[in-house]
Amino acid sequence: MAIRSADREHTRCAPLHGRDELSKIHHAPPAPRLAAPPVMTKAPIRVAITGAAGQIGYALLPRIASGQMFGPDQPVILQMIEIPVEKAMDALKGVAMELEDCAFPLLQDMVLTSDPNEGFKDANWALLIGSKPRGPGMERGDLIKENGPIFTGQGRAINEHAASDVRIAVVGNPCNTNCLIAMHSAKDVPDDRFSAMTRLDQNRAQAQLAMKARVHSSSVGNTLIWGNHSATQVPDFMNTTINGRCAADVIGDRAWLEGEFFTTVQKRGAAIIAARGLSSAASAANGLIDHVRDLRDATPKGEWRSVCIKSDGSYGVTEGLISSFPVRADGQGGWEIVQGLELDTFLKERLAATNAELESEREAVKDLLV
Ligand code: NAD
Ligand code: LMR
Repeated sequence: MAIRSADREHTRCAPLHGRDELSKIHHAPPAPRLAAPPVMTKAPIRVAITGAAGQIGYALLPRIASGQMFGPDQPVILQMIEIPVEKAMDALKGVAMELEDCAFPLLQDMVLTSDPNEGFKDANWALLIGSKPRGPGMERGDLIKENGPIFTGQGRAINEHAASDVRIAVVGNPCNTNCLIAMHSAKDVPDDRFSAMTRLDQNRAQAQLAMKARVHSSSVGNTLIWGNHSATQVPDFMNTTINGRCAADVIGDRAWLEGEFFTTVQKRGAAIIAARGLSSAASAANGLIDHVRDLRDATPKGEWRSVCIKSDGSYGVTEGLISSFPVRADGQGGWEIVQGLELDTFLKERLAATNAELESEREAVKDLLV
């Protein structure tokens, strides 16, 4: 099932001569010139989004179409993928109608489809959101059997149909292991194109540290999440800074850092589900905007961002797992793990625990890692 939006006709509707005549009658000063429409010189990029009619999709799509993910001068074609179910495709049509109604200057075209081969065709970025969210009382890892298989087919479709420069960001949970599955299913796509999202966790940790230190969140720098996007994730407090100083020193309350800070960040997703009855969507979409920008734009000198990428064994993380690291992007499409950060015994133990969880998730889906 595929629907392509009709080419838009841009018509001028202001009868300028009428306005001039009116000006003459009233002897008013000449009317100001109408601003020229922006000239788009860049070729559009194709962004494939799975689960586009879901909660995160709804919060995300207008932000991509308005230039917040790829920049204010970068036209986009949205390739929106849903499941082949009438209700989902109808909902997707409704989302597309709303996007049309925004008349975004950067939105060049939309493709609505339930066929991954069509949805990923020539995609430069693939945002893999579509999958089931957890409900109250579940852990993200509980979704693995249900959601994991989605990522084999999508990985294969990306392999066969996406653009040669495709980059992939996985959000659907458990996102680290789903990313691992997609990466294994896309044999011809270099592994370093695959990433999963802990930017939401980074933002959460940044906000918690700022509130505790009674500073604005912009005073907190190099916030860092290690490991799995799960309740075992490790929010760093040794390498993160507050107004340029080590966060642990500024906070000066080790019990809070190892206790409340850790559990608040680790369990924030569950707390949102308990409060809203639905999993995070606005903050998740925001995290994904940040995530893609983190990987596209060159990281400022001396900084890093939290991104789940394939481990090369750095910091003792098992090689081949998709784990969250401090990452720097070069602005040319490449990225690397920042080396040489110090972790104390507490953080090292927690990193070993989250690594063990990622290993057990990998074991649970080993049949999908073909
Ligand atoms: P949602 O249920 O509102 O929407 C999911 C959408 O995906 C639905 O419209 C569904 O029809 C679609 N879908 C399911 N399988 C699909 C497939 N094979 N192909 C295409 N579309 C498919 O869920 P949501 O709130 O948007 O969350 C989506 C996922 O993101 C969940 O797994 C959730 O746990 C996860 N999530 C991750 C993070 C993170 O930080 N990594 C944050 C929030 C949510
Ligand atoms: C989140 O962190 O908000 C998402 O991963 C949703 C969840 O299940 O917690």
